[in-house]
Amino acid sequence: MHQTVKVVGIGGSTRPHSTAERALRAVLTEARRLGAEVSLIGGAELMLPLYDPREPVRSPQALRLINELASADGVVVASPAYHGTVSGLVKNALDHVEELRGDERPYLSDRAVGCLSVGQGWQGAVSTLAALRGITHALRGWPTPLGVAINSATAGFAPDGTCDDPHIQGQLTQMAEQVTGFARARAALAAQGVAAGAGSTW
Ligand SMILES: Cc1cc2nc3c(=O)[nH]c(=O)nc-3n(C[C@H](O)[C@H](O)[C@H](O)COP(=O)(O)O)c2cc1C
Repeated sequence: MHQTVKVVGIGGSTRPHSTAERALRAVLTEARRLGAEVSLIGGAELMLPLYDPREPVRSPQALRLINELASADGVVVASPAYHGTVSGLVKNALDHVEELRGDERPYLSDRAVGCLSVGQGWQGAVSTLAALRGITHALRGWPTPLGVAINSATAGFAPDGTCDDPHIQGQLTQMAEQVTGFARARAALAAQGVAAGAGSTW
């Protein structure tokens, strides 16, 4: 019997129904199908004040983001490629994870993080995926073995939420399996009293 794990997805863009948010939703749909509880913080909810480490976070939306990530057993992050890297919107959201530095599980430690990027070409999509994976490492998260880069010039999303490129849809499914599977494995270890090693340096 599986323990219920919570997978939190963050990402998208200021554009309603952005491709990055659709891709994120597709992963969360698969995670839910696998039995995970899922929560989405999309582009509209990521329009937060600029993160300032000198100031307490007051914005209710930012506090929700921090609380959701603190309670997550697995995370999925999706960003459009903006000028070859992660968009400012998504990076600002990830900077808020600094508020979790003193958490029982600091930053995103002990969590698998599925990284996915969308560009209007392969170059930007791939460099953005590499940037997301680097940020995940800096936040002590475990990037899933499979990252997904989507070229919006060649793939889109159907009204039912699935990617019209079956290969990419298969990758999104695999990402959900990896995030959920890792979360369950860690939860099982925690239940046996096996503590994870959570360092506190970059
Ligand atoms: C400011 C800006 C910069 C962009 N820079 C790149 C880029 O460097 N490489 C790329 O492939 N696409 C670039 N794009 C295109 C977006 O990554 C692409 O349209 C993506 O599908 C948009 O994501 P969304 O549908 O989630 O909003 C850029 C778009 C904007 C608005």
